[in-house]
Amino acid sequence: MPDNLADPAFHANPHPSYAAWRRDGPIRRVRLASGTVAWLITRYDDARRALADPRFAKRASDIRHPSNAIDRALSNHMLAVDPPDHTRLRRLVSAAFTARRIEALRPRISDITHELLDKFPADAPFDLIDAFAFPLPIQVICELLGIPADDRDKFRRWSNIIVGGVAYQDKYPRAASAMVGYIQALVAARRADPGDDLLSGLIGVRDSGDSLTEDELISMVFLLLIAGHETTVNLIGNGMYLLLSQPDRWQRLCADPALIPTAIEEFLRYESPVETATYRITTEDIDFDGQTIPARSGVLIGLLSANRDGDRFPDPDAVELDRAHNPHLAFGHGIHYCLGAPLARLEAQIAFTALAASHKNLRLAVDESELTWRPGLLLRGLFTLPVTPG
Ligand code: HEM
Repeated sequence: MPDNLADPAFHANPHPSYAAWRRDGPIRRVRLASGTVAWLITRYDDARRALADPRFAKRASDIRHPSNAIDRALSNHMLAVDPPDHTRLRRLVSAAFTARRIEALRPRISDITHELLDKFPADAPFDLIDAFAFPLPIQVICELLGIPADDRDKFRRWSNIIVGGVAYQDKYPRAASAMVGYIQALVAARRADPGDDLLSGLIGVRDSGDSLTEDELISMVFLLLIAGHETTVNLIGNGMYLLLSQPDRWQRLCADPALIPTAIEEFLRYESPVETATYRITTEDIDFDGQTIPARSGVLIGLLSANRDGDRFPDPDAVELDRAHNPHLAFGHGIHYCLGAPLARLEAQIAFTALAASHKNLRLAVDESELTWRPGLLLRGLFTLPVTPG
């Protein structure tokens, strides 16, 4: 019987199950909320090896082009395809995401951060996700792409539904179609009136040759929008949860902000924002760590589990803000390694530094047991993080 990952008890705290599975059957068949059976890889060494192995591919050849136009417009992006398409698509935007280009965004990200902090209520409880962890990354990615940030509440709703999986199954078709319609209108507007943003650049590539199809253009914007905020909100949210649920930890970070870079890596490892959103399909039978995974099997590479593997990380269930050696897999590994990692790290660094400097008295406004994790096991993040300014 495959283990049921849709079980709410598993979702509330998956770590004990992951620990048992790493010990006893680290590559196993699991049943997802959709009813689909897939393989789950739970150990660090196996996860790293699978992420670098081209036989764990993104697409099998016969499902390359879904017949539904909406799905096609959402699934022709770099994270859903293999080389050579992957190489071509990634190359088109990689120059915008180099460490140097991202570092140049520092002053603007700082301004956005301080504008948000200035709006925090002075003495009433508020939700730190709503007031800060969500608007910061969405504003940044919108400005980078050249998208009006005023629309963000609209696509926050659609994107939550789209990444929420079966929890929102009945709402998915409308949300997906609204999202595609929105991006198409955006592309049409920018085509008529180009600027010097990333979106205008991509439209230029599309219109000046045959190296990008219209579906690929729409999918690229979709991926950057979704990947640009659904994950970073969880890095900031999960990190603040780990700090505020142990007030000594928060006080230590506020007193010693030099810890922030290693603390961010530790948050990425300990409550990885991408839990299992690493879908692969095997191109052939693969003998892997004593198991044969048959050809054309769906495989999830468990990053959250790999990052708690005691064979890789000493004392894996302890949060060590100054952990010295931290080769976590939170941003993946191999050709699909997160394109936005420098951006996510910079946003987090500015966010934690500003919060620690200006809100030392921040406290959780509810008991830790009242916090709930968002549905689905692709991403790991809290619904809300109620805090009191102190
Ligand atoms: C890919 C995690 C932020 C853009 C990935 C992958 C992971 C990941 C695990 C690889 C998935 C796989 O192999 O199947 C994260 C985390 C983030 C974050 C934990 C924040 C804490 C961002 C940001 C962007 C971004 C801010 C900005 C646009 C991308 C893109 C890919 C990707 C475009 C696909 C790369 C490819 O297929 O070559 N991310 N990400 N991510 N991420 Fe991120």
